[in-house]
Amino acid sequence: MTTAPAALSMAIARDLPALRREIAALRRRAASVALVPTMGALHDGHLSLIALARQAAEAVVVSIFVNPLQFGASEDLARYPRDEEGDLAALRAAGCDLAWLPTPEVMYPPGSATTVEVAGLSAPWEGVQRPGHFRGVATVCAKLFLQTGADVAVFGEKDWQQLAVIRRMVRDLDIPLRILRGPTMREPDGLAMSSRNRFLSPAERAAAALLPATLREVAAALRAGVAAAPMLQAAEARLRQGGLVPDYLALVEGETLQELEAARGDGTARLIVAARLGTVRLLDNLSV
Ligand code: PAF
Repeated sequence: MTTAPAALSMAIARDLPALRREIAALRRRAASVALVPTMGALHDGHLSLIALARQAAEAVVVSIFVNPLQFGASEDLARYPRDEEGDLAALRAAGCDLAWLPTPEVMYPPGSATTVEVAGLSAPWEGVQRPGHFRGVATVCAKLFLQTGADVAVFGEKDWQQLAVIRRMVRDLDIPLRILRGPTMREPDGLAMSSRNRFLSPAERAAAALLPATLREVAAALRAGVAAAPMLQAAEARLRQGGLVPDYLALVEGETLQELEAARGDGTARLIVAARLGTVRLLDNLSV
């Protein structure tokens, strides 16, 4: 991981009274607060978002919460990587002011009955593969925004559909908070950084590089004006030959996520992909 100047001290809150106390203390010395929501198992991608947050606001709050509401029954909630000690050390080194570490009981006390559903944008792509996923993401993000009262929240572009859903929710609910997006951080061979990459076997890890390479090639052809459908079909076949199982590979309008037949030449389209490799799902996207 890259290192940043150490923060003088970092507060840790694990329940709402402690969070409110610490946020009030931050507000006494900082005019603006940025939030970086995470599920922990921090890597350089997260640290780049924290660096953006530090530029955007005077104080930085990072939440670590493996949100059960966004995992389906057959998904990897139990084995999702957890490393609180390593994460807290990384946050201190990255200059985080406050770590917000609620338990599931703090986030969803018994009797919790309210969820947030962003209709339309939550339905396609990841929504087909992971029904209910974005309800979980939108609900926890709405709660994190309200709990922290942050002025800015920073999300990675790697989860493009998540970013689109959160932006829509913030607009629709008039949440007084600005969403900043951070570019996808990549390994030297192009693989987008993700907490789940650690579950790839060495052979799968080597095969995974085919995904960003294919994405780059397809994006270049689309930028040159090639029609999407035959390109995407050929690229899916290439991924399959390389041992990946694509769930989708599509050219979409960046905000509405509606499928496009060709790029528009103005950079507003997005090439999005999800593919399975062994037990790991890899997500990636590029601007076209
Ligand atoms: O991208 C993630 O890590 C999660 O979906 C988020 C935004 C922290 C919500 O749980």
